[in-house]
Amino acid sequence: MIELASGLIYRPAHFSRAEQEDLVAAIRGVVRAAPLFTPAMPRTGKEFSVRMTNCGPLGWMSDRDGGYRYQELHPETGERWPAIPEALLALWRDVAGIDAPPEACLVNFYAAGARMGLHVDGDEKEPRAPVVSVSLGASCLFRFGGTKRNDPTKSTRLESGDLVVIGGASRLCFHGVDRLYPGTSTLLPNDSRLNLTLRRVNPA
Ligand code: SIN
Ligand code: FE2
Repeated sequence: MIELASGLIYRPAHFSRAEQEDLVAAIRGVVRAAPLFTPAMPRTGKEFSVRMTNCGPLGWMSDRDGGYRYQELHPETGERWPAIPEALLALWRDVAGIDAPPEACLVNFYAAGARMGLHVDGDEKEPRAPVVSVSLGASCLFRFGGTKRNDPTKSTRLESGDLVVIGGASRLCFHGVDRLYPGTSTLLPNDSRLNLTLRRVNPA
């Protein structure tokens, strides 16, 4: 366990290869029920390079007209999101440090070349709950800073099976993914990466 910054906990190789394979299989099931969609920035409508879906009672999304939000229904199918896989609920119980279940698991799919700009996960109303983040597939360069956009940043490489818990004084830190490293995924095809983030949305 490495504390990258106060409350920003990094657990390299948290998941074994077999556990990673089981998570990928579970997420394939989620994506079958709730297909990946392409979110867009509020107002400008500029599309993200990452595609997304969710599981859990709530799902995070963004589009030009509605902006960043959680909602109960998939934006394209109109169906409820599928359940959060049990292994991820167990992970939350182990590491989240709060006695209330996660309500959303955002599934970010990075095809080769995708990235995610610096942002804060700030749409949740339970500041005591962390965001619990699982990396699968290609390695990436993860950047993190302080709670102000202009605070200095550092970066670290995340590998498949690594866990990051964004909590405490870092709960509202800026973070993002600068790039993926080609040729680093033996778990997912075509140099792709999955990131799963568990979130508590409503006050516990
Ligand atoms: C995110 O901040 O939503 C994604 C972080 C990551 O892909 O590791
Ligand atoms: Fe985030």
